[in-house]
Amino acid sequence: MTSPLLQVENLDVRYGETRALVDVSVALGAREVVALVGANGAGKSSLLNALLGLVPQAGGAIALAGKRIETLPTRERIASGLALSPEGRRVFPDLSVEENLDLGDLGGDPAARRERRETVNSWFPRLRERRQQLAGTLSGGEQQMLAIGRALMARPRVLMLDEPTLGLAPLIVQEIAAFIRHIRSTGVSVLLAEQNAEMALSVADRAYVLQNGEVVMHGGARELAAHPDVRAAYLGL
Ligand SMILES: Nc1ncnc2c1ncn2[C@@H]1O[C@H](COP(=O)(O)OP(=O)(O)OP(=O)(O)O)[C@@H](O)[C@H]1O
Ligand SMILES: [Mg+2]
Repeated sequence: MTSPLLQVENLDVRYGETRALVDVSVALGAREVVALVGANGAGKSSLLNALLGLVPQAGGAIALAGKRIETLPTRERIASGLALSPEGRRVFPDLSVEENLDLGDLGGDPAARRERRETVNSWFPRLRERRQQLAGTLSGGEQQMLAIGRALMARPRVLMLDEPTLGLAPLIVQEIAAFIRHIRSTGVSVLLAEQNAEMALSVADRAYVLQNGEVVMHGGARELAAHPDVRAAYLGL
């Protein structure tokens, strides 16, 4: 069996006395969409942030395309193919759409940056229309697209999305789901953290259920969506 694109083994994350992740192992294949499902405080964001080195990792291994990255600084992890659209979007409100996008590009070549911006704009035409607008004046859905677009400027192999649909109208949620399917078709894998389990399980190939920092279930997204425990705890059925 070939090794997965992203392999996380026995990851531990602690904030002082709080153990946010305990022995978490997750794999993501090429062109795969994997969902992380769990309630508030389950550890979804801690996992994504730990993959980028944004929170202290207390143990475990992270390999991207067979190469260990857990000791690398954040910038080098991004350069090696991981990018994050963070929880709460975190766009820079006083910068334009275009300036926000450019911040996601780690390369130094202006021509390549322009070309990449064009590609991202072709995926999100609404960003192109608003390229000179200050990000703080965008709608919530547009800010979310900008946060995803900024992550894509780094040309990731693995796009990590932290709560991309939080607070957005159903129509925009559907748009984001469609976009996740589209970006997968371009060869990018997606790791999706969502409290909206219904949406996450509808776009994902596989999923992991996190509870109090531990993986309590994992499997095919369809199987999990049909599982009585998942239906009761996360789908409100
Ligand atoms: N910087 C921090 N310092 C201390 N504790 C933290 C910190 N960040 C997160 N935690 C704790 O770690 C646990 C996991 O939090 P995390 O944000 O990863 O959960 P989550 O699944 O993303 O939740 P949500 O769905 O609300 O975003 C929680 O108990 C949280 O209080
Ligand atoms: Mg979170």
